[in-house]
Amino acid sequence: MATVDLNDIIRTGPGTLAGRYLRLFWQPIYRSRDLAPGHAVAVRLMGEDFTLYRGESGQAQLLASRCAHRGTLLSTGWVEGDCLRCFYHGWQYDADGQCVDQPGEDRGFAAKVRIASYPTREYLGLIFVYLGEGDPPEFRRFPDFEGPGVLEAGEPEYWPCNYFNRLDNARDGAHVPWTHSESLRRTGASRPVGAASSHAEETEYGIRSWSERQGKPSYYTHFHMPNINQNRSFARVEGSLEDAATLWVDRLFWRVPIDDESCVSFVVDLVPLTGDEGEAYRQRRRQTEESQRLPLRQIGDDILAGKMRISDIGEDISIYKLFWIEDYVVQVGQGSVADRSRERLGRVDTGVLLLRKLWLRELKALAEDEPVKQWQSVSGRADSAATPAARASAAAMPS
Ligand code: FES
Ligand SMILES: [Fe+2]
Repeated sequence: MATVDLNDIIRTGPGTLAGRYLRLFWQPIYRSRDLAPGHAVAVRLMGEDFTLYRGESGQAQLLASRCAHRGTLLSTGWVEGDCLRCFYHGWQYDADGQCVDQPGEDRGFAAKVRIASYPTREYLGLIFVYLGEGDPPEFRRFPDFEGPGVLEAGEPEYWPCNYFNRLDNARDGAHVPWTHSESLRRTGASRPVGAASSHAEETEYGIRSWSERQGKPSYYTHFHMPNINQNRSFARVEGSLEDAATLWVDRLFWRVPIDDESCVSFVVDLVPLTGDEGEAYRQRRRQTEESQRLPLRQIGDDILAGKMRISDIGEDISIYKLFWIEDYVVQVGQGSVADRSRERLGRVDTGVLLLRKLWLRELKALAEDEPVKQWQSVSGRADSAATPAARASAAAMPS
Protein backbone atom coordinates (compact mmCIF):
# COMPACT_ATOMS: atom_id res chain seq x y z
CA MET A 1 0.00 0.00 0.00
CA ALA A 2 1.49 3.29 -1.07
CA THR A 3 1.28 6.22 1.29
CA VAL A 4 1.01 9.66 -0.18
CA ASP A 5 1.01 13.00 1.60
CA LEU A 6 0.79 16.68 0.79
CA ASN A 7 4.46 16.86 -0.11
CA ASP A 8 3.73 14.50 -2.98
CA ILE A 9 1.37 17.12 -4.41
CA ILE A 10 4.00 19.83 -4.31
CA ARG A 11 6.88 18.10 -6.14
CA THR A 12 6.33 17.90 -9.89
CA GLY A 13 9.72 17.22 -11.48
CA PRO A 14 10.19 14.22 -13.83
CA GLY A 15 9.47 10.94 -12.07
CA THR A 16 7.69 12.47 -9.06
CA LEU A 17 4.16 11.34 -8.38
CA ALA A 18 2.46 14.70 -8.99
CA GLY A 19 4.77 15.28 -11.95
CA ARG A 20 3.61 12.00 -13.48
CA TYR A 21 0.00 12.88 -12.76
CA LEU A 22 0.12 16.37 -14.29
CA ARG A 23 1.91 14.92 -17.32
CA LEU A 24 -1.14 12.74 -18.04
CA PHE A 25 -2.91 15.91 -19.21
CA TRP A 26 -2.32 18.48 -21.93
CA GLN A 27 -0.86 21.58 -20.28
CA PRO A 28 -0.54 25.14 -21.56
CA ILE A 29 3.04 26.32 -21.96
CA TYR A 30 2.91 29.71 -23.71
CA ARG A 31 0.52 32.36 -24.97
CA SER A 32 -0.01 31.96 -28.73
CA ARG A 33 0.35 35.60 -29.65
CA ASP A 34 3.69 35.88 -27.86
CA LEU A 35 5.33 33.42 -30.26
CA ALA A 36 5.78 34.82 -33.77
CA PRO A 37 6.51 32.57 -36.76
CA GLY A 38 10.25 32.05 -37.15
CA HIS A 39 10.97 32.55 -33.43
CA ALA A 40 12.26 30.14 -30.80
CA VAL A 41 12.23 30.52 -27.00
CA ALA A 42 13.54 28.59 -24.02
CA VAL A 43 10.72 27.46 -21.74
CA ARG A 44 10.62 25.59 -18.45
CA LEU A 45 7.72 23.53 -17.13
CA MET A 46 7.52 21.12 -14.20
CA GLY A 47 11.26 21.27 -13.64
CA GLU A 48 12.17 20.45 -17.26
CA ASP A 49 13.59 22.71 -19.94
CA PHE A 50 12.42 22.79 -23.54
CA THR A 51 12.72 24.70 -26.80
CA LEU A 52 9.48 26.07 -28.15
CA TYR A 53 9.40 27.54 -31.64
CA ARG A 54 6.93 28.47 -34.30
CA GLY A 55 7.77 27.13 -37.72
CA GLU A 56 7.44 29.43 -40.67
CA SER A 57 4.26 27.53 -41.62
CA GLY A 58 2.75 28.81 -38.35
CA GLN A 59 2.87 25.51 -36.47
CA ALA A 60 4.15 25.60 -32.86
CA GLN A 61 6.73 22.89 -32.08
CA LEU A 62 8.34 21.67 -28.87
CA LEU A 63 11.76 20.01 -28.72
CA ALA A 64 14.33 19.21 -26.05
CA SER A 65 16.17 22.25 -24.75
CA ARG A 66 19.68 21.26 -25.83
CA CYS A 67 21.41 20.18 -28.99
CA ALA A 68 22.58 16.54 -29.07
CA HIS A 69 26.00 17.56 -30.40
CA ARG A 70 27.54 19.56 -27.57
CA GLY A 71 24.56 20.71 -25.64
CA THR A 72 24.04 24.36 -26.37
CA LEU A 73 20.54 25.83 -26.07
CA LEU A 74 18.55 25.29 -29.25
CA SER A 75 16.41 28.35 -28.51
CA THR A 76 19.32 30.50 -29.71
CA GLY A 77 19.25 28.89 -33.16
CA TRP A 78 17.46 29.59 -36.42
CA VAL A 79 13.99 28.48 -37.46
CA GLU A 80 14.13 27.19 -41.04
CA GLY A 81 10.76 26.11 -42.40
CA ASP A 82 9.43 23.82 -39.65
CA CYS A 83 12.97 22.83 -38.62
CA LEU A 84 15.38 24.33 -36.11
CA ARG A 85 19.11 24.80 -36.74
CA CYS A 86 21.60 24.96 -33.88
CA PHE A 87 23.51 28.21 -33.33
CA TYR A 88 26.76 26.44 -32.41
CA HIS A 89 27.73 24.17 -35.35
CA GLY A 90 24.59 24.20 -37.43
CA TRP A 91 22.98 20.82 -36.84
CA GLN A 92 19.40 20.93 -38.00
CA TYR A 93 16.42 19.12 -36.43
CA ASP A 94 12.94 18.58 -37.80
CA ALA A 95 9.77 18.95 -35.72
CA ASP A 96 10.00 15.27 -34.66
CA GLY A 97 13.43 15.92 -33.16
CA GLN A 98 15.16 14.00 -35.93
CA CYS A 99 18.52 15.44 -36.91
CA VAL A 100 18.32 16.07 -40.67
CA ASP A 101 21.50 18.02 -41.42
CA GLN A 102 25.02 18.00 -39.95
CA PRO A 103 27.45 20.26 -41.77
CA GLY A 104 30.84 18.57 -42.18
CA GLU A 105 29.74 15.12 -41.00
CA ASP A 106 29.49 11.82 -42.82
CA ARG A 107 26.24 10.97 -44.51
CA GLY A 108 24.32 8.59 -42.24
CA PHE A 109 25.35 10.12 -38.90
CA ALA A 110 22.34 12.45 -38.77
CA ALA A 111 19.91 9.54 -39.09
CA LYS A 112 21.28 8.14 -35.81
CA VAL A 113 20.64 11.35 -33.85
CA ARG A 114 17.27 12.27 -32.45
CA ILE A 115 16.23 14.52 -29.58
CA ALA A 116 12.94 14.56 -27.67
CA SER A 117 9.90 16.15 -29.28
CA TYR A 118 6.40 16.60 -27.91
CA PRO A 119 2.89 16.99 -29.36
CA THR A 120 1.46 20.54 -29.42
CA ARG A 121 -1.99 22.03 -29.93
CA GLU A 122 -3.28 25.60 -29.94
CA TYR A 123 -6.60 26.46 -28.41
CA LEU A 124 -8.22 29.55 -26.87
CA GLY A 125 -5.13 31.62 -27.56
CA LEU A 126 -2.72 29.26 -25.78
CA ILE A 127 -0.14 26.70 -26.87
CA PHE A 128 -0.68 23.33 -25.18
CA VAL A 129 1.79 20.48 -24.97
CA TYR A 130 1.67 16.87 -23.92
CA LEU A 131 4.75 15.91 -21.89
CA GLY A 132 3.62 12.46 -20.76
CA GLU A 133 4.53 9.04 -22.06
CA GLY A 134 2.77 7.32 -24.93
CA ASP A 135 -0.05 8.74 -26.96
CA PRO A 136 -1.65 11.93 -25.65
CA PRO A 137 -5.18 11.79 -24.28
CA GLU A 138 -8.07 13.34 -26.13
CA PHE A 139 -7.71 17.10 -26.08
CA ARG A 140 -10.02 18.70 -23.51
CA ARG A 141 -12.21 21.44 -24.93
CA PHE A 142 -14.27 24.07 -23.15
CA PRO A 143 -17.35 24.64 -25.30
CA ASP A 144 -18.47 27.62 -23.19
CA PHE A 145 -15.43 29.50 -24.40
CA GLU A 146 -15.99 28.77 -28.06
CA GLY A 147 -19.17 30.87 -28.26
CA PRO A 148 -19.62 34.53 -29.23
CA GLY A 149 -17.83 37.26 -27.28
CA VAL A 150 -14.38 38.72 -26.89
CA LEU A 151 -11.91 35.92 -26.14
CA GLU A 152 -8.59 37.10 -24.73
CA ALA A 153 -5.71 35.16 -23.26
CA GLY A 154 -4.24 37.40 -20.57
CA GLU A 155 -0.58 37.97 -20.00
CA PRO A 156 0.82 34.81 -18.33
CA GLU A 157 1.45 35.34 -14.61
CA TYR A 158 4.81 34.07 -13.36
CA TRP A 159 4.84 33.85 -9.56
CA PRO A 160 7.59 32.79 -7.16
CA CYS A 161 5.54 30.19 -5.31
CA ASN A 162 4.54 26.57 -5.68
CA TYR A 163 1.60 26.04 -8.03
CA PHE A 164 -0.42 24.48 -5.21
CA ASN A 165 -0.54 27.81 -3.34
CA ARG A 166 -2.53 28.96 -6.34
CA LEU A 167 -4.64 25.82 -6.73
CA ASP A 168 -5.72 25.91 -3.10
CA ASN A 169 -6.74 29.52 -3.49
CA ALA A 170 -9.03 28.64 -6.38
CA ARG A 171 -11.26 26.68 -3.98
CA ASP A 172 -11.05 29.31 -1.27
CA GLY A 173 -14.01 31.66 -1.50
CA ALA A 174 -13.57 32.79 2.09
CA HIS A 175 -10.53 34.91 1.31
CA VAL A 176 -12.29 37.25 -1.11
CA PRO A 177 -14.02 39.72 1.25
CA TRP A 178 -10.72 40.16 3.14
CA THR A 179 -7.92 39.85 0.63
CA HIS A 180 -9.85 41.81 -1.98
CA SER A 181 -11.49 44.35 0.30
CA GLU A 182 -9.70 47.27 -1.36
CA SER A 183 -10.78 46.16 -4.85
CA LEU A 184 -14.33 45.69 -3.68
CA ARG A 185 -14.33 49.13 -2.07
CA ARG A 186 -13.15 50.73 -5.31
CA THR A 187 -15.80 49.02 -7.41
CA GLY A 188 -18.48 49.92 -4.91
CA ALA A 189 -19.17 46.31 -3.93
CA SER A 190 -19.77 46.01 -0.23
CA ARG A 191 -18.36 43.29 1.94
CA PRO A 192 -21.19 40.76 2.37
CA VAL A 193 -22.97 40.68 5.70
CA GLY A 194 -23.14 37.53 7.79
CA ALA A 195 -20.98 34.46 7.81
CA ALA A 196 -20.83 32.37 4.65
CA SER A 197 -20.93 28.61 4.72
CA SER A 198 -18.73 26.94 2.13
CA HIS A 199 -19.81 23.98 0.05
CA ALA A 200 -17.99 21.78 -2.42
CA GLU A 201 -18.82 18.52 -4.14
CA GLU A 202 -17.02 16.16 -6.46
CA THR A 203 -18.31 16.05 -10.02
CA GLU A 204 -17.42 14.23 -13.25
CA TYR A 205 -14.99 17.07 -14.08
CA GLY A 206 -13.57 17.89 -10.66
CA ILE A 207 -15.21 20.09 -8.01
CA ARG A 208 -18.19 22.36 -7.95
CA SER A 209 -18.10 24.94 -5.15
CA TRP A 210 -20.43 27.56 -3.83
CA SER A 211 -21.03 29.45 -0.65
CA GLU A 212 -24.25 30.21 1.14
CA ARG A 213 -24.89 33.39 3.02
CA GLN A 214 -28.00 33.74 5.13
CA GLY A 215 -29.34 30.58 3.51
CA LYS A 216 -28.92 31.79 -0.06
CA PRO A 217 -26.44 30.11 -2.41
CA SER A 218 -24.06 32.22 -4.42
CA TYR A 219 -23.24 31.17 -7.95
CA TYR A 220 -21.04 28.19 -8.57
CA THR A 221 -17.41 27.94 -9.47
CA HIS A 222 -15.88 24.96 -11.16
CA PHE A 223 -12.58 23.23 -10.80
CA HIS A 224 -11.48 20.91 -13.58
CA MET A 225 -9.00 18.34 -12.37
CA PRO A 226 -6.15 18.50 -12.08
CA ASN A 227 -5.29 22.24 -12.30
CA ILE A 228 -7.93 24.30 -14.08
CA ASN A 229 -10.28 26.76 -12.46
CA GLN A 230 -13.39 28.15 -14.11
CA ASN A 231 -15.58 30.94 -12.87
CA ARG A 232 -17.82 33.73 -13.92
CA SER A 233 -16.91 36.86 -12.10
CA PHE A 234 -17.85 40.45 -11.87
CA ALA A 235 -15.56 43.44 -11.45
CA ARG A 236 -12.39 41.65 -12.44
CA VAL A 237 -12.30 42.24 -16.15
CA GLU A 238 -9.23 44.00 -17.52
CA GLY A 239 -10.05 47.35 -19.15
CA SER A 240 -11.39 50.67 -17.88
CA LEU A 241 -12.81 51.16 -14.40
CA GLU A 242 -16.20 51.40 -16.03
CA ASP A 243 -15.66 48.01 -17.65
CA ALA A 244 -14.88 46.63 -14.22
CA ALA A 245 -18.10 48.12 -12.89
CA THR A 246 -20.37 46.77 -15.63
CA LEU A 247 -18.99 43.61 -17.24
CA TRP A 248 -19.09 39.98 -16.30
CA VAL A 249 -16.32 37.76 -17.44
CA ASP A 250 -16.12 33.99 -17.85
CA ARG A 251 -12.65 32.91 -16.99
CA LEU A 252 -10.52 29.78 -17.21
CA PHE A 253 -7.17 29.60 -15.52
CA TRP A 254 -4.54 26.93 -15.55
CA ARG A 255 -1.94 26.86 -12.76
CA VAL A 256 1.15 25.11 -14.05
CA PRO A 257 4.40 24.48 -12.17
CA ILE A 258 7.56 25.97 -13.64
CA ASP A 259 9.45 24.12 -10.93
CA ASP A 260 8.69 23.48 -7.27
CA GLU A 261 9.32 27.10 -6.20
CA SER A 262 7.55 28.91 -9.03
CA CYS A 263 4.54 28.61 -11.29
CA VAL A 264 2.72 30.23 -14.18
CA SER A 265 -0.97 30.96 -14.61
CA PHE A 266 -2.55 31.09 -18.02
CA VAL A 267 -5.81 33.01 -17.98
CA VAL A 268 -8.45 33.01 -20.70
CA ASP A 269 -11.37 35.45 -20.57
CA LEU A 270 -14.59 35.49 -22.52
CA VAL A 271 -16.36 38.83 -22.23
CA PRO A 272 -19.95 38.91 -23.50
CA LEU A 273 -19.59 41.71 -26.05
CA THR A 274 -19.79 41.24 -29.81
CA GLY A 275 -19.55 43.28 -33.02
CA ASP A 276 -18.39 46.90 -32.72
CA GLU A 277 -18.89 46.86 -28.96
CA GLY A 278 -16.67 43.80 -28.69
CA GLU A 279 -13.97 45.30 -30.88
CA ALA A 280 -14.02 48.57 -28.91
CA TYR A 281 -13.65 46.64 -25.67
CA ARG A 282 -10.78 44.56 -27.05
CA GLN A 283 -8.95 47.78 -27.96
CA ARG A 284 -9.60 49.37 -24.54
CA ARG A 285 -8.35 46.27 -22.85
CA ARG A 286 -5.14 46.04 -24.86
CA GLN A 287 -4.56 49.75 -24.27
CA THR A 288 -4.98 49.28 -20.52
CA GLU A 289 -2.55 46.37 -20.63
CA GLU A 290 -0.04 48.46 -22.57
CA SER A 291 -0.44 51.77 -20.77
CA GLN A 292 -0.35 50.19 -17.32
CA ARG A 293 2.85 48.19 -17.60
CA LEU A 294 3.22 48.27 -13.85
CA PRO A 295 5.79 46.17 -12.02
CA LEU A 296 3.02 44.19 -10.32
CA ARG A 297 5.37 41.68 -8.75
CA GLN A 298 7.56 44.45 -7.40
CA ILE A 299 4.56 46.15 -5.83
CA GLY A 300 3.52 42.84 -4.28
CA ASP A 301 7.04 42.24 -2.98
CA ASP A 302 7.18 45.77 -1.51
CA ILE A 303 3.94 45.09 0.35
CA LEU A 304 5.32 41.78 1.62
CA ALA A 305 8.47 43.61 2.76
CA GLY A 306 6.38 46.20 4.64
CA LYS A 307 7.46 49.10 2.42
CA MET A 308 3.91 49.96 1.38
CA ARG A 309 0.29 48.90 1.82
CA ILE A 310 -2.42 47.87 -0.63
CA SER A 311 -4.29 51.10 0.09
CA ASP A 312 -1.25 53.10 -1.10
CA ILE A 313 -1.73 51.86 -4.67
CA GLY A 314 -2.99 54.64 -6.95
CA GLU A 315 -6.71 54.75 -7.67
CA ASP A 316 -6.07 54.69 -11.42
CA ILE A 317 -4.89 51.07 -11.45
CA SER A 318 -7.29 48.65 -13.15
CA ILE A 319 -9.28 46.46 -10.79
CA TYR A 320 -7.93 43.39 -12.55
CA LYS A 321 -4.39 44.40 -11.60
CA LEU A 322 -5.38 45.32 -8.06
CA PHE A 323 -6.92 41.85 -7.59
CA TRP A 324 -3.72 40.43 -8.99
CA ILE A 325 -1.57 42.19 -6.41
CA GLU A 326 -3.92 41.30 -3.56
CA ASP A 327 -3.79 37.61 -4.49
CA TYR A 328 -0.03 37.76 -4.96
CA VAL A 329 0.46 39.14 -1.46
CA VAL A 330 -1.43 36.32 0.26
CA GLN A 331 -0.27 33.41 -1.88
CA VAL A 332 3.39 34.33 -2.22
CA GLY A 333 3.15 35.38 1.43
CA GLN A 334 2.52 31.71 2.31
CA GLY A 335 6.09 30.94 1.26
CA SER A 336 7.45 29.58 -1.99
CA VAL A 337 6.86 26.04 -0.76
CA ALA A 338 4.37 26.23 2.08
CA ASP A 339 4.59 23.82 5.00
CA ARG A 340 1.06 22.42 4.88
CA SER A 341 1.58 20.26 7.94
CA ARG A 342 1.36 23.36 10.15
CA GLU A 343 -1.99 24.56 8.84
CA ARG A 344 -5.15 24.62 10.96
CA LEU A 345 -8.02 24.14 8.55
CA GLY A 346 -11.60 24.96 9.50
CA ARG A 347 -15.11 25.20 8.16
CA VAL A 348 -14.36 27.74 5.46
CA ASP A 349 -11.76 25.38 3.99
CA THR A 350 -14.25 22.83 2.67
CA GLY A 351 -13.17 23.35 -0.93
CA VAL A 352 -9.49 23.26 -0.09
CA LEU A 353 -9.95 19.99 1.79
CA LEU A 354 -11.87 18.37 -1.05
CA LEU A 355 -9.30 19.46 -3.60
CA ARG A 356 -6.50 17.89 -1.57
CA LYS A 357 -8.55 14.75 -1.00
CA LEU A 358 -9.10 14.22 -4.72
CA TRP A 359 -5.47 14.88 -5.52
CA LEU A 360 -4.21 12.48 -2.84
CA ARG A 361 -6.67 9.80 -3.97
CA GLU A 362 -5.52 10.07 -7.59
CA LEU A 363 -1.83 10.10 -6.66
CA LYS A 364 -2.33 7.02 -4.51
CA ALA A 365 -3.99 5.23 -7.43
CA LEU A 366 -1.09 6.20 -9.66
CA ALA A 367 1.45 5.02 -7.10
CA GLU A 368 -0.32 1.65 -6.86
CA ASP A 369 -0.74 1.27 -10.63
CA GLU A 370 -4.50 1.45 -10.20
CA PRO A 371 -6.65 3.32 -12.75
CA VAL A 372 -7.04 7.04 -12.15
CA LYS A 373 -10.40 8.73 -12.62
CA GLN A 374 -11.14 9.80 -16.18
CA TRP A 375 -12.33 13.38 -15.76
CA GLN A 376 -14.93 14.52 -18.26
CA SER A 377 -14.86 17.73 -20.20
CA VAL A 378 -18.13 19.47 -19.55
CA SER A 379 -19.61 22.87 -19.80
CA GLY A 380 -19.69 24.59 -16.44
CA ARG A 381 -21.34 27.85 -17.22
CA ALA A 382 -24.80 26.47 -17.69
CA ASP A 383 -25.34 26.16 -13.98
CA SER A 384 -23.37 29.23 -12.94
CA ALA A 385 -26.64 30.90 -11.95
CA ALA A 386 -24.99 34.30 -12.20
CA THR A 387 -27.55 37.06 -12.44
CA PRO A 388 -27.27 40.80 -12.00
CA ALA A 389 -28.75 40.31 -8.54
CA ALA A 390 -25.77 38.19 -7.67
CA ARG A 391 -23.38 41.09 -8.16
CA ALA A 392 -23.48 42.01 -4.52
CA SER A 393 -22.15 38.58 -3.69
CA ALA A 394 -19.37 38.74 -6.27
CA ALA A 395 -17.22 38.90 -3.19
CA ALA A 396 -17.75 35.18 -2.73
CA MET A 397 -15.84 34.35 -5.88
CA PRO A 398 -12.36 32.98 -5.55
CA SER A 399 -9.81 33.93 -8.14
S1 FES B 1 26.14 22.11 -30.19
FE1 FES B 1 24.59 22.15 -31.69
S2 FES B 1 25.61 21.82 -33.54
FE2 FES B 1 27.17 21.74 -32.07
FE1 LIG C 1 -8.27 36.13 -4.75
